[in-house]
Amino acid sequence: MLETATATAPGKVNLFLETAAPRPDGYHELTTVFQATALQESVTVTRAEEMRITVSGLDADCVPTDSSNLVWKVAENVLPSTPVHLHIVKAIPTAGGMAGGSADAAAALVACNALREHPLGIDELDTIAARLGSDINFVLHGGTALGSGRGEILTPVPFTGILWWVFATQGQGLSTPAVFTEHDRAGAWGHPHSVQPLVHALKAGASASDLAPLLFNRLQDAALSLRPELARTLFAGEDAGALRGIVSGSGPTCAFLCADEQQASAVARALETSGTCRHTVTTTTTAPGAVDKLQTSYRKDNRG
Ligand code: C5P
Repeated sequence: MLETATATAPGKVNLFLETAAPRPDGYHELTTVFQATALQESVTVTRAEEMRITVSGLDADCVPTDSSNLVWKVAENVLPSTPVHLHIVKAIPTAGGMAGGSADAAAALVACNALREHPLGIDELDTIAARLGSDINFVLHGGTALGSGRGEILTPVPFTGILWWVFATQGQGLSTPAVFTEHDRAGAWGHPHSVQPLVHALKAGASASDLAPLLFNRLQDAALSLRPELARTLFAGEDAGALRGIVSGSGPTCAFLCADEQQASAVARALETSGTCRHTVTTTTTAPGAVDKLQTSYRKDNRG
């Protein structure tokens, strides 16, 4: 019987996010393109006397350590009646639109399954992931994918390039439901943008500068309406040379696509001194999905 298991899972950036009117269950039908970041979370699960969560790394003191944390719910689903200690090592900024909490959940799913020596296949892990949140399925699989439904229905998009990103974080988070509510208040789902030009460009292996004009986030206006100061952040990053700046998911983190590592360093330096963000994180896409320490990959045919 295994005593402990560790797994990692990436964060995400939405290159494209279009919404439809809310469904009867309150969720919004999405058309989105996800990419997984090289920045990843790590979760170690160890058999214990009682359930416990500890957290280290970036923004560790902002992370709940009680049963409200998704990793607790994951353990209850995968290891019923088995108390465990879950230790999360954070590298992804919290409450920011980069799916840090979803990455913790995906890593916990894979680690808990590894602790039981893999009784669950990918379809069962996907079912649990979809029940617990909208972004967990993607970070389980990684790579690049077109997402529909709540974001949990995924079609891999073959893309073999490497893109450089700078993420500018804010001191205060932005609630995802609040951003969707603001978006609905503004009635912003009128004329849908097509995702096809971006998908074709990705499949054709387009460069960062070709992809930049195709980035789109329907939630950006709502995030800016709730946090007008983010406009200054977006301006500061683009002024420093980024190819394009967009709000990441529901924000408030802003994502800046850069031509290469050198440009990303310059953009990060400029943002750090601009006074328009808390700090910056530089990373690349795309990366693999959740992987346990024994290197069992849970990706289907996505490419990292
Ligand atoms: O599924 P998840 O817990 O990540 O979603 C958080 C909240 O974001 C939901 O409660 C809902 O208010 C909003 N949401 C939505 N439509 C989606 C995804 C999330 O309205 N497709």
